[in-house]
Amino acid sequence: MKIEFVDAASETAVLAVLVHEDRSLSQPARTYDEQTGGALMRAVNAGRFTGGKGQTLSVAAPQGLLAPQLLAVGAGPKDGFDELAAEAAAAQAFQAVKTSGAETLAIDVRDLSPVLAARAAFGARLGAYRFDKYLTKEKPEKKPSIATVQIVVSDAAAARAAYEPLSAIADAVVFSRDLVSEPANVLYPQEFARRCKELERLGLTVEVLGEAEMAELGMHMLLGVGQGSRRDSQLVVMRWNGAADPNAQPIAFVGKGVCFDTGGISIKPADGMEDMKWDMGGAAAVAGLMHALAGRKARANVVGILGLVENMPDGNAQRPGDVVASMSGQTVEIINTDAEGRLVLGDALWYCKQRFQPKFMIDLATLTGAMIIALGNDYAGVFSNDDAVANAILAAGAGEGENVWRMPLPAQYEKQIDSAIADMKNTGGRAGGSITAALFLQRFVDGTPWAHIDIAPTAWKKDSKTPTVPDGAAGWGVRLLNRLVADGFEG
Ligand code: BES
Ligand code: MN
Ligand code: ZN
Repeated sequence: MKIEFVDAASETAVLAVLVHEDRSLSQPARTYDEQTGGALMRAVNAGRFTGGKGQTLSVAAPQGLLAPQLLAVGAGPKDGFDELAAEAAAAQAFQAVKTSGAETLAIDVRDLSPVLAARAAFGARLGAYRFDKYLTKEKPEKKPSIATVQIVVSDAAAARAAYEPLSAIADAVVFSRDLVSEPANVLYPQEFARRCKELERLGLTVEVLGEAEMAELGMHMLLGVGQGSRRDSQLVVMRWNGAADPNAQPIAFVGKGVCFDTGGISIKPADGMEDMKWDMGGAAAVAGLMHALAGRKARANVVGILGLVENMPDGNAQRPGDVVASMSGQTVEIINTDAEGRLVLGDALWYCKQRFQPKFMIDLATLTGAMIIALGNDYAGVFSNDDAVANAILAAGAGEGENVWRMPLPAQYEKQIDSAIADMKNTGGRAGGSITAALFLQRFVDGTPWAHIDIAPTAWKKDSKTPTVPDGAAGWGVRLLNRLVADGFEG
């Protein structure tokens, strides 16, 4: 799907206009209402369409216009009409007509600022995402027909300029969603690393460490997770040095990249196990962030580290009861091989701190099913040893519509991960399962300001109510992290 900023819609385009709550027409909507002799308002008044968010109403072949369809899009209250509302309205318009047979959708937002018009384009682009590369026999009527979305604006050049960084962010979200959508027979650690390496074309520096190099570094906790897999584990180190001083202390992001999580010897039940192809959503968010930063040439020094493994049961797989040594020197008794994400991240966090001495580290991980039990399907949990880092995450999430909720890190729960034969064990029982997982990670940050975001609830969407995030891979986190960098660490 192509985005265009134009000052007049093409004649055959479906025309979309915004209507605010209480049936209050935007200025372009009023213009078309007049040109159609009041047809729009008659249709609106005839039914339950009130201009609420998520509503749409179609007027077919309206007299007085060449457009085949005039689409009223509920934009919600006029007062709170912000960037997120503009994105949602445009995405809603797209969803309403995407398979209608029309090829062009023109969203007339001539009364909006260039910034809001750019946001509308961004929303349409994100809402149009689909992962269809393996559909060889899809019926033509199921395929989207809209090939172009025109954003009708009063100052096309200004809107285009405002869209430029957003376009880079959208590319990055799409990159991230594609990684999460790919099945695990296609996207295994080396293939994931290869796709990251390709991002060097954007100006990123990308290093890939293999198993021998990780063994040399003492990362036996990470390597233990992958040892039952035929696929080699990888550690990807991505760097973007966009700050005025390329040697200035960086900030760092670390992602859990379990390309498939069977649970290992502590194997998961068959039902729903296919979902565990998206157990690399944290790594995909970090890779997407790096893509966004390079794409919009962010003025910040940022490190992204991905721990990529496959957790499989096998004759060589790690066993419950095994004791492994981490890069930090701390030893871990493996109680449940399905609690593998913390093992991967622990070594990745320690490596990050040792090598880069970052201002702070934020890790993202589909870490615990318990996080879904605690927060439901639309909030990720934030755990942090630093209020400033936690608050920056909460603010960035609110700004981008990626919901986050802060969780505690109570010292009195530490004893749940005590082990009789090693420095700690890798599970802490059912009570506070997400919290004890975070406490485990905290033991590998060595006092660095740090936050952990458990994205198990948000990495994958089912029954999405958000038009900019279709069902499937959400690409969750790319926007939040990019906003965090943009608002706090550039210029
Ligand atoms: N990848 C899972 C967590 C997960 C579960 C994410 C469901 C998304 C949906 C993680 O590796 C895991 O298996 N965690 C276990 C931990 C337990 C063994 C302590 C869990 O949550 O059950
Ligand atoms: Mn697991
Ligand atoms: Zn996992």
